[in-house]
Amino acid sequence: MPQLIPFLKKDEIAEMVAAVAQRLSSDYKDSEFVVIGVLKGAFMFVSDLVRGLTIPVEVDFVRVSSYGDAASSSGTIRMTKELELDIKGKDVLIVEDIIDTGLTLDYIVNYVKSFSPKSVRICALLDKRERRMSDVPVDYACCIVEKGFLVGYGLDYAEKYRNLPEIYDLKF
Ligand code: IMP
Ligand code: MG
Repeated sequence: MPQLIPFLKKDEIAEMVAAVAQRLSSDYKDSEFVVIGVLKGAFMFVSDLVRGLTIPVEVDFVRVSSYGDAASSSGTIRMTKELELDIKGKDVLIVEDIIDTGLTLDYIVNYVKSFSPKSVRICALLDKRERRMSDVPVDYACCIVEKGFLVGYGLDYAEKYRNLPEIYDLKF
C-alpha cells in the first residue's frame, strides 16, 4: 500500500487560496472575468477560489485526459469536455490543480486562445517544477513544489484520494 505523508493542512490550503482570491479580486476588478477550471483535479480548488472572490465572475470547466492511471504523463492529450461559455473579448483565468510537465496547460492555453479572449492567464494550486517541459507562465501559483506525487483536495492517483480535505505526498 502506498503511504500518505501529510503535505498541506486544511487551514494552510485555505490561507493560500484566500490570498490568491484576494489578488485576483484586485487584478480583475472592472473586467469581464471568466474562470475556466480544468476537471477533474481542480474542482475543489475552483469552488473555494471563486467563493473567495469579491468581484463578479463567470465559471466554466474543460476536461482533458492525458494521464490514465499512471503517475507520469502519457504525453497524449485529448479534450473530453469542451468550453461552453462565450469568452470572446473576456479576461480568462485557467485554473489547474497542479502543473507538472506543463504539456496539458500548453494544450489548454492554445485551445482557449482559439476563442479570442482578451487575455489568458494561469492559476495553479501547486506548481511542481522538477519535470517542466514547456515554458508556459504560471501567473498565480498558491504553492511551489519541487517534486513528489501529491493527492487530496481534488488531486488523485488512479481516481482515488480526491475527496481528502488535506494534501498528502504519496510514497509508493
Ligand atoms: P502536466 O501536463 O505534466 O503538467 O500534468 C498536469 C496534470 O497531471 C494535472 O492536471 C494533474 O491532473 C496531473 N498531475 C501531475 N502531477 C500530479 C500529482 O503530483 N498529483 C496528482 N496529479 C498530478
Ligand atoms: Mg489527474
